[in-house]
Amino acid sequence: MPSENLQEVRVFAPATVANVACGYDVLGFAIDKPGDEIVVRFSEEPGLKITQITGDEGKLPYAAEKNTAGVAALALLEHLGKSDLGLEMEIHKKMPFGSGLGSSAASSVGGAFAVNALLGEPLSRKELLPFVMKGELMADGAWHADNVGPSLLGGIVFIRDNESLDVSQLPVPEDLWATVVHPDIEVLTKEAREILPAKIRLSDVTKQVGNLGGLICGLMNDDYSLIGRSIEDVVAEPYRKQLIEGFSEAKAAALAAGALGFSISGAGPSVFALCHGEELAQKVGQAISEVFAGFDREHQVYCSRVNKTGVSVIS
Ligand code: HSE
Repeated sequence: MPSENLQEVRVFAPATVANVACGYDVLGFAIDKPGDEIVVRFSEEPGLKITQITGDEGKLPYAAEKNTAGVAALALLEHLGKSDLGLEMEIHKKMPFGSGLGSSAASSVGGAFAVNALLGEPLSRKELLPFVMKGELMADGAWHADNVGPSLLGGIVFIRDNESLDVSQLPVPEDLWATVVHPDIEVLTKEAREILPAKIRLSDVTKQVGNLGGLICGLMNDDYSLIGRSIEDVVAEPYRKQLIEGFSEAKAAALAAGALGFSISGAGPSVFALCHGEELAQKVGQAISEVFAGFDREHQVYCSRVNKTGVSVIS
């Protein structure tokens, strides 16, 4: 357990699958890997300095006020009246940008959580949410908690209202596994949001709300079949799938291999399948992998239970 005597903390903030097909901007879950590592330590010099960034191919700024993890940490420090505190931060990116795995959200969560842990946990996890949202907002220009929520709190997080950050954690069935595949295509969240229509048909609203309710009921009752029937997205997937070469083939292969359901992870290009049990999750991963390999597309496959812990101190 972190204490005020700590001189340094290293935290791991997990990747997340946002939307979960039927919950555009209001539903997400955390997975075991990949994830980002953030180190924060006290320093003599006042203010927050980012001293090392790895795994970012030189893309991330060192200026704390321009960096997702830095922005979240600075917002927390300001709230605590400790803006002048001397701190150093290292950011170790372990997942690609624009991957649909909540990369910026994980950094934002890791930044604020590490500072909070180093200071002896003045705030609870849930109380950190408004500060990690500021980092995420800077990264993709939109205010949605479906990546930061699960990365921070763990499990499957439902957001009734993004403005007031009214979030709840949903039950996670014991044998629910996720297969997440990241094809090496860059999709920027901002652009993937811009291609969505401003208005949707009432019949699509009905369908999406029905599926969202169905998924929640399925999670509450360990009803895997209902979970599978509810993994359908009539709002974003029809528009975004064209950004992911091989999407339809991968979906067909995953469902044929026994996945409960399949859709886009967040804004893409990563895709995910929900599966009943680990064996099936591996088999589905293999099936999706063969499709992307057939398109000559580099990709990574991750099979994981839902990560119920969220961000954690690792040393
Ligand atoms: N809900 C967001 C979107 C997630 O779909 O744009 C982005 O990671």
